[in-house]
Amino acid sequence: MKTSTPSPAEITPPEVYARRREFLKTSIGAGLVAAGAVSPAPTFAAPLKFGAGASRRDYASGETPTPLQHVTGYNNFYEFGTAKEDPARLAHRLKTAPWQVSLEGLVKKPVMLGSEEILQLAPLEERIYRLRCVEGWSMVIPWLGFPLDVLLKRVEPLGSAKYVEFVSAVQPETMPGVKGRVLDWPYVEGLRLDEARHPLTLLAFGLYGEVLPKQNGAPLRLVVPWKYGFKSAKSLVAIRFTEHEPRSAWMKAAPREYGFYSNVNPAVDHPRWSQASERRIGEFRKRPTLLFNGYGAEVARLYSGMDLAKHF
Ligand code: MTE
Repeated sequence: MKTSTPSPAEITPPEVYARRREFLKTSIGAGLVAAGAVSPAPTFAAPLKFGAGASRRDYASGETPTPLQHVTGYNNFYEFGTAKEDPARLAHRLKTAPWQVSLEGLVKKPVMLGSEEILQLAPLEERIYRLRCVEGWSMVIPWLGFPLDVLLKRVEPLGSAKYVEFVSAVQPETMPGVKGRVLDWPYVEGLRLDEARHPLTLLAFGLYGEVLPKQNGAPLRLVVPWKYGFKSAKSLVAIRFTEHEPRSAWMKAAPREYGFYSNVNPAVDHPRWSQASERRIGEFRKRPTLLFNGYGAEVARLYSGMDLAKHF
């Protein structure tokens, strides 16, 4: 796997980079101030973190990122409907400011933080990850974020905390999908604590050099690159530390089809289709799916001794 530091131009279209600082000043900055969430001074400190010192790493073996129009136009965000084009069509309604995230459960210091406060906890990194959807398609996405563990450390998990539950927003007034019963809302996902604290687990605030489009889970979402895409819950409002394994929305909906771990694994088929290969969005041919989505060198140790067919 290539993990050298490519130049910005290798990652993101140059015009996006050129626009980026201006965009962040006007968009994030103006949005936060308008929301009354922060005073102007700290607001402008945050966008600067995207700048010169930001680290950029390719975790996708030098592959070209999936074109922006597919990343933002072909989505799963069932709160806005089950068709791939529904989120791009409807998610602009999502109200993202002000936005609060509750850190709760088995922690020493439970706290409610504004999304902009979280954004300022650490400098943003650009990380290009493969994203493999359980449905058999995949993308390569340049995310902006920092390791989730930066945030988790802030609340000091207790020794009894073994799992972390992630809860997405429910806004009935902006989300037509939550009126239906496709899933038991809110969208909930879970990780074991060591998975959540793994350095590859990202809390993302942006992609392609810009603030997250709403259809991709603004203002902040999880990205767990070695698991099927559904583990990467969007538009988070709560992160809860628990002793017992959380039951995700997908486990409740179809327990035979979706397990807790959901690691990308070409040898363990979905009950209704094979997981051995995938199609990168924008490409015609199929390519073989990689164990742990190609991140085995980093994450396989988390599962040593476990039967991955049983713990699917
Ligand atoms: N998060 C919420 N809240 N609701 C969803 O429907 N879909 C998941 C995941 N996170 C989903 C979600 C699925 S199935 C995938 S593949 C990824 O988001 C897609 O992320 P993307 O649209 O940014 O590519």
